[in-house]
Order: sequence, then structure tokens, then C-alpha cells
Amino acid sequence: MSVRGDLMGRVNEPPRLPEGNFAAWSRDRLAMARRGADECGDVWQLESGVYVAATAGPCEEVLHRAQDFPKPPSPLFPPLKRAGGAPTSEERAHARAARMRGLRPQAVAARIGEIASGTVRFADQWPTGRDVEILPLLRSVLAEVGVRYLFSEDAPTLLPFARQLFVAREVLVRPTRWVWPGWVPTPARRFRTRQQVAFINALRPIVRRRRSSGRLGDDVLGQMLRPSCRYGALSEGAILDTLPGITVATFETPSRAAGWILLHLARHPWAADRIAAEAALLPADAAATTSTHLERLQYTRAVVREVLRLQPPSWLLTRRAPRRTQLADYTINAGSTVLVCPYTAHRDAREHPDPDRFRPERWLDDSCSRAKPGVFLAFGTGPHSCEGAALAMAVLTVLTAQTAHRYHLSDGPEPGYRVTTFEGLATPGLHLRATVRGRGSPPFGDKAST
Ligand code: HEM
Repeated sequence: MSVRGDLMGRVNEPPRLPEGNFAAWSRDRLAMARRGADECGDVWQLESGVYVAATAGPCEEVLHRAQDFPKPPSPLFPPLKRAGGAPTSEERAHARAARMRGLRPQAVAARIGEIASGTVRFADQWPTGRDVEILPLLRSVLAEVGVRYLFSEDAPTLLPFARQLFVAREVLVRPTRWVWPGWVPTPARRFRTRQQVAFINALRPIVRRRRSSGRLGDDVLGQMLRPSCRYGALSEGAILDTLPGITVATFETPSRAAGWILLHLARHPWAADRIAAEAALLPADAAATTSTHLERLQYTRAVVREVLRLQPPSWLLTRRAPRRTQLADYTINAGSTVLVCPYTAHRDAREHPDPDRFRPERWLDDSCSRAKPGVFLAFGTGPHSCEGAALAMAVLTVLTAQTAHRYHLSDGPEPGYRVTTFEGLATPGLHLRATVRGRGSPPFGDKAST
């Protein structure tokens, strides 16, 4: 029961679950998030000073009110100590604007042939007829696609370093018994810093060579090297500092999402068949894929969106409340943590009828509430929303179409995976089996369909 606030300044605390505490949360975070939303409503309290925004309205509000609910700095790849100090907020804004020139939907659409010829390597490399652990293969292919998207012809130099950054990330986010203060140089943090330095040392000569030759490149790095009218040229330090995190982002979350998508294709063969039929429109030569082909993959895109609704890989986003403030009629105390939960927002029957059912058609249906703000939060919203949303959607849509067109997928009688929720919703250990559809037919539609 919440205590209603009044004009005398008494606080209006969000409700709590009777037995809600971190121990119960650690045992089953998804189940508890669902119970919190069902039994307490839009905003609830996990422990004193830890609030959960559980439905579309408050989630959207927290993510948009970045002054009241700032995003804490990511501990994964913090800026390295350097002579000029950490990038200023102006430099960060400039770097983001520059990256976005290379990541916005039109820029992604213009490079879709290159993306498709990278993603098709996943279907090419999948050993058929036996159970295969699929996430490492997905990650390997998507790392090539992502690093190529950022750095074009310099990708082969940087790819081994990018893979090591991913390893460092995995070590860092592994749950541990103790959470050490940020300044303690744990072995995981030292390893992370070494990999970050190695990546930056490999990137620096590329940045200098491109700048001195004047051939800046048409990729995301090229966009960062171009001076803008508003800010001028970005400093070398700001370019180098921001790129390790973005580089890992191009393939880490997308491979988690792709794992969920392939699992759904195995579980819902009717959806896989419909995607396979739609993918017959793709050209035989993946490099010839155009933005028109991508546009036409409407059902495939709806499947990707539906899986991201049901299993948003970033299912819980963290914000702070440095000052006392209000959220949906409740008082949020200064110094609190506010957890924004796309997972429960996506399972709200008021926004998504029959919310637990896999029904991609809901995204094709005009009556669907997708236009309403806050109802689809897989990529967040507001000033910190995902920079790579267009790239991720393109990569996942093409990869899903190519794979479903070539293979029937199945999972074993027992689930060959675990669901983890600690650093994102993922299926480690996912094993799937691929069998080739229709023997003798070419992998994709004949040339006439191009
Ligand atoms: C299916 C794939 C992806 C999902 C589900 C996803 C999800 C998200 C979400 C929910 C956020 C917001 C985090 C928050 O508000 O705290 C975010 C931020 C971000 N994403 Fe993604 N992402 C994906 C792919 C990518 C890709 C491919 C890139 C590559 C450029 C990328 C780069 C970023 C960056 C740089 C941010 C931080 C933005 C900021 O803090 O200002 N993401 N992503």
C-alpha cells in the first residue's frame, strides 16, 4: 500500500512487494519484475531507494527526463587517462552527432549490400544436421559485419582487437561475490584496460593515416573524422576514447538478439516458413541486396520486432535520481536508483494485447499501438536511445531472412541453453540444428528476382 503525499511535504512512496528484496530478486529477476508490475503497478520499489519503472508511461518519462534521471557512466570502457583529460560533454555530443551521420537509417540502407554479404556468411558456415552451439558462431560473424561497418577496409586490422574487447567485457560483467569499488584495479579491470589500450594503439595509426592522406573514408570512422560546421574537428582523443564501446556494441547485443530470434524460428516453424517465402525476393548474390529488398522484408522485420518485444536483450536500464523528484505521482528520493524495465513494459496487456503470445502480425496491423511513445523500448528512447538501432534492425532482418530461407531450424527435446538476466537477457549455451530446405534449389531466389 502506498502512502499518499500531501502538501505538508510527506512523501508518497511507490508500493513494495511484501517479500520483495534483493535476495528474491537475485533468485529470479524476470519473475519478480513481472510480479512487481502485476501486483504494484506502474512504479514499484524493490528495496529502499531502488525503484522500478514497470510500464510504458513511467519508462518513457524516466528515459526522456535525462536531467532528473541521468544515466550513470558505463563502467565497461571508461575513457583512458590522457593528457587532455576525459572528453568534455561538448566533445561527447560532437562525437555522437558524428557517429550518427554514419548510423542513421539512410546511411545503413546505402550499405545494405555490404551488410548482407557479411551476414550470409552465418548461413554459409553453419554445420548442418547436428546440434550446434550457435551464439559463438553468431558473434563471430556479426563481429566481422559490425567492425567492417565502422572501419571498412581497416576492419581486418582491428577485428582481432575487437574480439579481445568482447572477451574483456565478458570477464567484467561476470557476476562475482563482491562488487569492488570502481577504483580497485581488479584483475578483470586490468585485463579490460590492457585490451582497450591495445585496440586504441591499433586504431591510432589508422586515424592519423586517414587524416594526413585526406582520404577520410565513407564509414563511421570517416564520419567522425569530418569536421562539422558546429564543432569543427573532433580531437583524436575523443575519437579514440569512444570507439572501443561502440565497436563491441555493434556485435554484442545483436548476437544475443539473434540467438532469441533463431530460437523462435525453431519453435514457430510457420513463422519461419513465411519468412523463407518472403526471402525468395532476395538476390542470389547477397552483395546485390538493395534497400528496396530490405524494405520488402516486412514480415521478417515484424518477427525481429516481436522477438525484441518478448525478449528485449537490454531488459533493464539503469538511471540515478541525484535530487528528490516526482515520477507518476510518486516521490523518488535523492540518491536513488531507478530501474527502467522494457521487459515488463512490453508485456503490458493494455499496450500489447495477449502480451505473452508470439504474434508478429501485431506489427503489421495498423491498429497496433506501436506509434505510441514508450510501448516499444527494445532500443530505449530519449537522449540515450540506441545509436545502432537502424544498423541492428537491418543486420537482424537480413540475417533472419537468409537463414530461414536456407534452413529448417529445430532445438532438442530439452532446452540446450540457460536464460541469463544479469547483464542482459541472453541464451548462453543455445544449441540448434539446421537442415537444408528443398534440396537442389539455389540458396536464394534466382537472378530473375533481383
Ligand atoms: C539488437 C541490438 C541492440 C539492442 C537491443 C540495443 C539496445 C540498446 C538500448 C536499450 C540502449 C539504451 C540504453 C540506456 O538507455 O541506458 C542502447 C544504447 C546504445 N546502443 Fe544499442 N542496442 C543494439 C545494438 C546496437 C548497435 C549495433 C550499436 C552500434 C553502434 C549500438 C550502440 C549503442 C550505443 C552507443 C548506445 C548508448 C547511447 C547513449 O548512452 O547515449 N547498439 N542500445
